[in-house]
Amino acid sequence: MFPRGRKLLLGVSGGISAYKSCDLLRRLQEQGFIVDVVPTSASLNFVGKATWEALSGRKVLTDLWSEVEKVPHILMAKENDLIVIAPTTADLLAKLASGRADDLLTNIVLASTAPKILVPAMHTEMWSNPATVANVKTLQDRGFIVVAPDEGRMTGSDVGVGRYPEVSKIIEIINLTTHITADLAGKKILITAGGTREPIDPIRFIGNRSSGRQGFALAAAAASRGAQVHLIAANTDLPVIEGVTITSVETADQMAAVLEYEFSECDALIMSAAVADAKVANYSEQKIKKENLDVVSFSKNPDILRNLSEKKKPGQIIVGFAAETISGLAELQQRGEEKLVSKSLDLIYVNNVSDGAVFGSENTQGLIIDKNHNVIKVPQISKDTLSDILLDQLVGKLS
Ligand code: CTP
Repeated sequence: MFPRGRKLLLGVSGGISAYKSCDLLRRLQEQGFIVDVVPTSASLNFVGKATWEALSGRKVLTDLWSEVEKVPHILMAKENDLIVIAPTTADLLAKLASGRADDLLTNIVLASTAPKILVPAMHTEMWSNPATVANVKTLQDRGFIVVAPDEGRMTGSDVGVGRYPEVSKIIEIINLTTHITADLAGKKILITAGGTREPIDPIRFIGNRSSGRQGFALAAAAASRGAQVHLIAANTDLPVIEGVTITSVETADQMAAVLEYEFSECDALIMSAAVADAKVANYSEQKIKKENLDVVSFSKNPDILRNLSEKKKPGQIIVGFAAETISGLAELQQRGEEKLVSKSLDLIYVNNVSDGAVFGSENTQGLIIDKNHNVIKVPQISKDTLSDILLDQLVGKLS
């Protein structure tokens, strides 16, 4: 699982402007994209594999014959939501137009059904050569998006059309192509997920039914909108989300400790975890015999949200969740508003979890309430959709 729409493959072919793609890579990462770089062997004469690995923070494969057991060309073709090749040389345009696949990059392009953006850069004469013009036309007819090169100084003293375009122009076309909004770019968001467990003895614990699905859906959605996401997951069994930092915790105290440390640096906290209200006061190092279980006593856990709200700085946004077992909308709203006020929240999502609804399910239904008493009634929808609706609200409040 990875952020929807945010996994991008950057192909680099052997033109002198390959170095400009280092800046493109950086800017794409700032927009929240996870970028796999696939350089052609000729391009390594201009920018080496080590540079791409260091900048992307990911392993870079340069040929078809590495990690063959993983069938990387098919894996990368499937995993990436978009392919951008910058620069694209005249030779690569010719290869792609004739459907050839003799290296890793061309194999990926041929195997991928994702949108493909080409950024040709070459000397004016090569760009205007009828062979190149025909190749570009063929590729456009097949659905490739070709970014027109800029006009200006070439390598050496010539001037003309064929320059690698401004990086901002390439990013603009990528955003238009993917319809992705990076409205959370540059924002740090803490999200909690799952349910805490409070140990009784080495064998037993007190827990709850939260699966963590909602928190994971929120994390994936926020990352796909460009946020830097730290997910604090309590006892979940869900696949990791690429590009999201995950810290696993067990108890409410552990969750509180991580949040205490991270909170001051974040722009928003979304507390979707189900936190146990009590812990065992007299944890036993030895298994408690069943006839002695009535010795177990409880003490209160900290109210994590309330404590953090007291430390909230101007501009920070806090979103809470509430799970209630009441079905009447008016009562549900009242309960939500009480928690919103008592925990000084900016926004709360309150849902009815009676009869096993919501916990562990793909769907949810409830009310979103903000501190100005605006209420959005959420019908039965997927947790992914709720995530986007909640994040839309959050974006409005962050700005
Ligand atoms: N919460 C928290 N710390 C706790 C308990 C809850 O931070 N010790 C957070 C939850 O993550 C959630 C919100 O507070 O975002 C509301 O949780 P909920 O369990 O519905 O409310 P409680 O305050 O525990 O009240 P009650 O259980 O009495 O309904």
